[in-house]
Amino acid sequence: MQYVDMSKEDLLETKASLEKEYEKAKGLHLSLNMARGKPAPDQLDISRGLLDVVNSKSDLTALDGTDCTNYGNVNGIMECRQLFADVLGTNAENVLVHGNSSLNIMYDQIARGYAFGYLGETPWCKLDKVKWLCPAPGYDRHFRVTEHFGFELITVPMTENGPDMDVVEQYVNNDPEVKGIWCVPKYSNPSGVSYSEETVKRLANLKPAAKDFRIFWDNAYCEHHLFGDRKIDEVPDILSVCEKAGNPDMVFEFASTSKISFPGSGVAVMAASVANLDDVRKSLNCQTIGHDKINQLRHVRFFKDAEGFRKHMEKHAEYIRPKFDAVLRIFDEELSGLGIGSWTNPNGGYFISFDSLDGCAKEIVAKCKEAGVTLTGAGATYPYGKDPKDSNIRIAPTYPSVEEIEQAAKLFTLCVKLVSVDKLLAAK
Ligand SMILES: Cc1ncc(COP(=O)(O)O)c(C=O)c1O
Repeated sequence: MQYVDMSKEDLLETKASLEKEYEKAKGLHLSLNMARGKPAPDQLDISRGLLDVVNSKSDLTALDGTDCTNYGNVNGIMECRQLFADVLGTNAENVLVHGNSSLNIMYDQIARGYAFGYLGETPWCKLDKVKWLCPAPGYDRHFRVTEHFGFELITVPMTENGPDMDVVEQYVNNDPEVKGIWCVPKYSNPSGVSYSEETVKRLANLKPAAKDFRIFWDNAYCEHHLFGDRKIDEVPDILSVCEKAGNPDMVFEFASTSKISFPGSGVAVMAASVANLDDVRKSLNCQTIGHDKINQLRHVRFFKDAEGFRKHMEKHAEYIRPKFDAVLRIFDEELSGLGIGSWTNPNGGYFISFDSLDGCAKEIVAKCKEAGVTLTGAGATYPYGKDPKDSNIRIAPTYPSVEEIEQAAKLFTLCVKLVSVDKLLAAK
């Protein structure tokens, strides 16, 4: 029976038994964490071979003759640019290989718009106001970067096909203060949504009021399928769709191997039109004499080609899938039919997104914490950390073991029930 249809007496009775269960759960003194979107330690072991493909006896010369042990080559070695170009569906000349972190590149790229302006446009620091579109729920660190630069963050609702494009078009095509949008096109953080072809086309065909409007296309989960090749979400290559639409310079794409090889010791890239990359190189050449080319070489020699990435990601999926399955099974068993929450069931990525009754998320997260289960802070998935409905919670099942995930998911559902009953009783 849906909780909302229960009488006050039934709700009170349910509350009493849930409270008993909760006290029992607290007695278990759990210490679990479903907040961190990172690979589990045993999962990372599958990438250790990467550490053996290059050693003191290796030839450390790249195919184009670059000595990877020395300074130089700010573009990254050609074979690594080609590898990422194949993964992203673009050309090597459109890819710049950087250091280990794509978030770092995104921050730098915003900083360039702020300090110098893109392709000769006015630097944003000289403008009265810069507005940024933030599809939400979304990635908190994206929002933090643009908040850090003092931009006004505008929430755009996420739909099952990506950001609500009516809202995006309305802002971008009419307001010159809107300079950019954050996008996680595949297996989005946290909803797991992949953008539809229609959404990609509409984005590429925007007619921005600002000449220096840019799509920040964070393809962080481009190869992160959960089901091998059985259920793969396909998202068109944004660079070529933008080019076809007559907007070749409107997009910066980012990706990394953080959740393919080692988070913190992977390789990250930016892809864009050659005009944009020439613009980037002007400051990049002042910033560095070249990134870690030995690591680039190591990645190319270990993965070999795009197919190598895919095969490796299938191994990751073997670790992650049972954890997603466990959460989804427990949510189904415990919450289906109660009308107190809905959740996503993605084909890939690192997260499940849960929506509680309005006004319950913070309390659910607090109750979980009190009983030893840490979740991502409620509100984190919205600009300024403020979820207007206080309903979205990001579940990150990858780091704990399957047994721990089962315990954590059970406790989570118990807290959802308890907080929802309270909410409904308060309204009676
Ligand atoms: C959407 C998204 N982008 C970027 C990152 C971080 O990427 P990197 O490790 O390459 O800085 C994450 C990490 O969780 C993420 O979810």
